[in-house]
Amino acid sequence: MTFDDQEYLKRYSFIERILISSEEIQKRIRQMGNEISKDYKDSTPIFICILKGAYPFLADLTRCVSVEHEVDFMAVSSYDGGTQSTGVVKIEKDLKENITNRDIILVEDIIDTGLTIAHLTELLQTRNPRSIRIAALLDKKPARVNDVPLHYIGFEIPAEFVIGFGLDYDEKYRNLPFIGIMKG
Ligand code: IMP
Repeated sequence: MTFDDQEYLKRYSFIERILISSEEIQKRIRQMGNEISKDYKDSTPIFICILKGAYPFLADLTRCVSVEHEVDFMAVSSYDGGTQSTGVVKIEKDLKENITNRDIILVEDIIDTGLTIAHLTELLQTRNPRSIRIAALLDKKPARVNDVPLHYIGFEIPAEFVIGFGLDYDEKYRNLPFIGIMKG
């Protein structure tokens, strides 16, 4: 049996409301996949999934991409279990693939302050890829402290703490198929 959005809401009373439903997410990911497929029709890009939060987005996005591509994974941490950014970005797992002269698409769950993605982009540039673009499911624009360019954005959201579709609170609730807001 699979749970739909309403069943999860009933089961988890700490969820205040659904900000973006699973249907809206899937529709938008299909559009993003089509756009990426057009942009990379002459290339074999490497999608780099930023763990842990981007794994559901990577899985669904790449299934909507029709051009040949590869995937690789990188783990970083910028949050420490709570809801506040520490501003500290630590590389916990590095790439397996050589990205020199390759087209890279960094896949992120959410861009909040932008510190994580700015740090990663800077680091990966030193390995001389042909290009780096960023695909983020969520853009929490009001929280941004720098000016990192995002190429593919799923949804702009307000500066609220969200869970679901890869995003956790204290390592839980990544499995929710929608983006939800917790009760304060
Ligand atoms: P940034 O460096 O501030 O842009 O933060 C990016 C990372 O912080 C994301 O990859 C998430 O892991 C985490 N994060 C930011 N906002 C939220 C949120 O609302 N819910 C859960 N995690 C978040």
